[in-house]
Amino acid sequence: MNEAIANAATVGAQIDAVETELQAAGLFFGHGTDNPRDEAAALVYFVCDLEHDGDASAYQRAVSDAERAEIRQLTDTRIKTRTPLAYLTGEAWFAGLRFRVDQRVLVPRSPLAELIVPQFSPWVEPGNVRRILEIGTGSGCIAIACAHAFPDAEVVATDISADALAVAAANAADHGVTGRLRLVETDHTDGVDGSFDLIVSNPPYVPVAEEAAIPAEYRHEPALGLYSGADGLDSARRILQDAPLLLSDQGVLALEVGAQWQQLEQAFPHLPFTWVEFGSGGEGVALIFRADL
Ligand SMILES: C[S@@+](CC[C@H](N)C(=O)[O-])C[C@H]1O[C@@H](n2cnc3c(N)ncnc32)[C@H](O)[C@@H]1O
Repeated sequence: MNEAIANAATVGAQIDAVETELQAAGLFFGHGTDNPRDEAAALVYFVCDLEHDGDASAYQRAVSDAERAEIRQLTDTRIKTRTPLAYLTGEAWFAGLRFRVDQRVLVPRSPLAELIVPQFSPWVEPGNVRRILEIGTGSGCIAIACAHAFPDAEVVATDISADALAVAAANAADHGVTGRLRLVETDHTDGVDGSFDLIVSNPPYVPVAEEAAIPAEYRHEPALGLYSGADGLDSARRILQDAPLLLSDQGVLALEVGAQWQQLEQAFPHLPFTWVEFGSGGEGVALIFRADL
């Protein structure tokens, strides 16, 4: 047993000890946190059932023997299996909301959360948003966060994975939005009709050739959520093809392609992409207006 975790008496000391172990293990951090400190805090707060927006006095709280043993076990499993922490705890936070997650869905981490919470300001007039479409919903985090941000809007969310949609349905029930969120099992937008004021998508966008070199943590995630053709843009191309048929006249498409953003610009040189700058990290989210498609 590691001495530091065994001897750490408080939440703060446990976070220090776990951070040291996670750092030393050479893990990859990119599934909800991007550094060992934040991940250690997430792990300890989960075990101790602490609120993330609580005050700093939580750091002085004593940990019980049972909590210490669970922290030990979670830390060991995280290091030995390289499983993203969210799959070990069964939860992830997105746009300030808690979501259930397991290996049927990608771990929520899209920078789109930073756009959703302020209702896509200043690019979207919230009062005009009556119907929202999300393509590739996974856990449902984006669709459900949109339903929260736009409480009068109807939301349609698609995914080709029935397994993912089962998780999204559970999350929709948890968040009380089943009456306004329709989950559709389909390929992109096949069979979806009507007009949408906002289309949001974080599709798979990793080039398939990168699979061999990807950090072990990603191998726990569904391949359907990651890979999309030789340049990673198969799904994005399909979404750009479908969007003009589904957007209302004033409608906006928010499309995430991460590190593939330059390839997307090269592939569509005539499209005036607006690339969003994020305060809390992340890149490769474009806004495309119906009038420009
Ligand atoms: C990058 S994940 C995003 C999941 C979730 N929206 C999020 O941000 O965490 C992409 C999602 O697209 C889904 N997907 C992949 N190919 C698809 C297709 N052809 N049609 C619809 N959904 C697809 C995957 O199953 C996965 O849930």
